Amino acid sequence: MTKLPLPALRGTYCHQHLVHHGTTGSRQTSRANVGPVKSITLGAMPSHDALAYLHGTSDREQARLVRQADILRPILLSGLDLAPRERVLEVGCGVGAVMAELARAEPTLALTGLDCSADQIDGARRHLGSGGIPASLVVGDALALPFPDASFDRVVMVWVIEHLADEVARVAALREARRVLRPGGRIDLTETDYGLFRVTPRHASIEAFLAAFVELFDKHGSSCVGPRLAPLLEIAGFASVDSRMHGLHFWCPSRAAELCAMTAYILDFVRPELPALVAGRSTLDAAQIEEGLALFGALAATPDASFSATIWRATGRRSE
Ligand SMILES: C[S@@+](CC[C@H](N)C(=O)[O-])C[C@H]1O[C@@H](n2cnc3c(N)ncnc32)[C@H](O)[C@@H]1O
Repeated sequence: MTKLPLPALRGTYCHQHLVHHGTTGSRQTSRANVGPVKSITLGAMPSHDALAYLHGTSDREQARLVRQADILRPILLSGLDLAPRERVLEVGCGVGAVMAELARAEPTLALTGLDCSADQIDGARRHLGSGGIPASLVVGDALALPFPDASFDRVVMVWVIEHLADEVARVAALREARRVLRPGGRIDLTETDYGLFRVTPRHASIEAFLAAFVELFDKHGSSCVGPRLAPLLEIAGFASVDSRMHGLHFWCPSRAAELCAMTAYILDFVRPELPALVAGRSTLDAAQIEEGLALFGALAATPDASFSATIWRATGRRSE
C-alpha cells in the first residue's frame, strides 16, 4: 500500500482557536458535556502553519451550518446504518448540526463532538442543549485527537477534510480517526468537488464567479476532496473502503423552488467571500465575477436554467 511520508505536519487548521489553560508543560483544552464543563489534557500538539479557516464562526455562519444539515439531511444520513448505543465521534463538529441529525435518527447514540474552534464548540453546546441532546464536546485538533486508542465505534467527518491544507494533513487526520476507532469501527466522510458545480445554459460570468470561488477555496484547503476520499482512506490504512456519489440536480421551471433554495444556500457561504473573490483582479475581471454572483443568485428566475453538483459519501473500517 502506498505510504505518504508524514514528517513535520503542515496542515490548515485553526489551532490558534484552541483554548489553552495553564502555562507550562502539556496543553489543555476544554471539554464540555452539555452540562458540566470538564478539562482534559492534550499531548504535545504538532506544529502546523495555521491558515485562516475559510468560513469563520460568525452567528450567520453558525446558523448556516444548521440550515445546511437540514437541507442535506437525506444525503448525510443515507446508508449510515447507525446501531443503538454506538459511541460516535464527529471530528470538526462545528455547531453540532450533524450531531443533532444523528441523534434524531438514533437517539441512543453516545455522541462526542470535537472542533478546533472554541466558538464553534460554544455554538454546539447551545444548539445541542436547546434540542435536549446529550453530548460530550471537546476543543481539539483533528490531527492530534485527545482520545485513547480504540475509544469509538464510529467517526464522522462532514465538510472538514476540505479545510485541511494538503494531502499530508488529510492522511494524518484520517490516521488519527483510525487510531481512535475500535477494531471493526467505521468512518463516514462527506465532501464535494466545488469545481464540478455546473450551471446551464453556460454563462461566462457565472463560470468566472464559480472558478474564482474554487481558486479562493484552494488557498484555504482543497476544493476537490470529494473524489479523493476513497484513495485517502486506503492510504490511511482503512479497509472495506466504499465511496458513493450523490447527485443534486435542480432545474427550471418545474423545480425552480428547489433551485432557488440551493443557490441561496450556496450564496450564504460564498457571498461573504466576495471581497476576497475579487481582490487583486483587474476591474474587468472583478466586474465579471460580481455579475456572475448576481446571475447565480437569480438563476431560479431564468426560465430554462439548471444547476447540478455532486456530494461524495465515503466509508471504511478499521480492520485490526
Ligand atoms: C464547514 S464546518 C462543518 C461543521 C460540521 N461538520 C457540519 O457539517 O455542520 C468545518 C468545521 O471544521 C472545523 N475544523 C477545521 N479544521 C479543523 C481541525 N484541524 N481540527 C478540528 N476541527 C477543524 C472548523 O472549525 C469548522 O467548525
